[in-house]
Amino acid sequence: MTSPNPTLDAVTDHYQGEEPVHEGRSPNAADHLWMHFTRMSGYADKPVPTIERGEGAYIWDSNGKKYLDALSGLFVVQAGHGREELAEAMAVQARKLAFFPIWSYAHPTAVELADRLAAEAPGDLNKVFFSSGGGESVETAWKVAKQYFKLIGKPGKYKVISRAIAYHGTTQGALSITGVPPFKAPFEPLVPGSHRVPNTNFYRAPQLVSHDEKEFGRWAADRIEEAILAEGPDSVAAVFVEPVQNAGGCFPPPPGYFERVREICDTYDVLLVSDEVICAYGRLGTMFGAQKYGYQPDIITSAKGLTSGYSPLGAAIISDRIFEPFGKGNTVFPHGYTFGGHPVSCAVALANLDLFEREDLLGNVQRNENAFRTTLEKLLDLPIVGDVRGDGYFYGIELVKDKNTKETFDAAESERILRGYVSGALYESGLYCRADDRGDPVVQVAPMLTSGQEVFDEIEQKLRHVLSEAWKLV
Ligand SMILES: Cc1ncc(COP(=O)(O)O)c(C=O)c1O
Repeated sequence: MTSPNPTLDAVTDHYQGEEPVHEGRSPNAADHLWMHFTRMSGYADKPVPTIERGEGAYIWDSNGKKYLDALSGLFVVQAGHGREELAEAMAVQARKLAFFPIWSYAHPTAVELADRLAAEAPGDLNKVFFSSGGGESVETAWKVAKQYFKLIGKPGKYKVISRAIAYHGTTQGALSITGVPPFKAPFEPLVPGSHRVPNTNFYRAPQLVSHDEKEFGRWAADRIEEAILAEGPDSVAAVFVEPVQNAGGCFPPPPGYFERVREICDTYDVLLVSDEVICAYGRLGTMFGAQKYGYQPDIITSAKGLTSGYSPLGAAIISDRIFEPFGKGNTVFPHGYTFGGHPVSCAVALANLDLFEREDLLGNVQRNENAFRTTLEKLLDLPIVGDVRGDGYFYGIELVKDKNTKETFDAAESERILRGYVSGALYESGLYCRADDRGDPVVQVAPMLTSGQEVFDEIEQKLRHVLSEAWKLV
């Protein structure tokens, strides 16, 4: 199911709070601020929810109302809001050197962070190319792949295989790789050469493989081989996949999936790009998502949790093998971003990784992930909850009209129930999370890595209340 303006506006469309009270001039947010992925007309006659402050797992709006941030902002704020030591690390760096580019120069925090990421990343992923965010990291990875094959004498290899409904960013290359048709349609034609294969949604697996996860995984991975053969192996440069696919509602990989994907990539000399913009930096309880499932990518793309969102930063981490031809003779990778590897962002990323160690955040997720799953799975007793899926601290709860047949809501029902009720009611109940209908309708939750049972219970109870009420509207 799709809608002309799906995604985040489902979270924000239904806010009915009071007008914020400000001293002096009080501008209306919608007058001049063009919110991202937002149906702006929805704010013609009501205020935009405005978040002013955060502390730990909670945020406060401009009316002073408190919400549990059950999405870590946007899968970003791993360490929690309001961490003094992160703010301080930024202030110290800003005083010392607020900005310098990494175009033919280095600065100490970029050097130190690159070194640390290379040490943390699996296998020979040892070269770090910084950007300002996730889409730019994806863009970088595709360009690395294209130039790599030109450098090694295979100039025809430029295409990309990615998965249905997957989101990889909005710049024109990353958008071309993205598999969400309504996000792409207004901007066609996009960068040519990207092709879709099925994702790993086991809940809606084709009947022939719906009885066994492993067989489903083999089937889904084999579709990548099929696409490579259909396009011609001499034309395919890379496969872009997330460890757990976000859009569509948290699809973990079935057992054996990544083993087979790696094998296919090796057979056809195609790069395996693990898009970990969400899944890296502890979201799944490991530093990188690939480590959770034991596969070796050629490139990891990352952003979001690297700084816990205190400052923007992205990183594409590239293997020695792929870097090798770039390090020779007069070869240049003619690509970069003014703010890539920003000194303040690198400083806060280092402080964030220190905090990960000091507070054993990965260990916290590992110790509590089963409890999180078990708590969310209690919701399966509700008639509207069809599936609870995900891994680590990253879950999607699929809403259905009929649990037995798995029948989903049509566009009108989704508009009425999801947008018209669920997303607004969740917010009103003091729970900030995400109702997403880029695929079948899901509610997504991704709490901070500091969270424990108390936060899980609050999420479950608020969801239970709102989803029970929503069922009365079906
Ligand atoms: C898997 C994935 N790739 C890329 C992106 C794009 O990241 P950004 O919004 O930082 O450009 C996202 C954003 O959510 C993402 O989830």
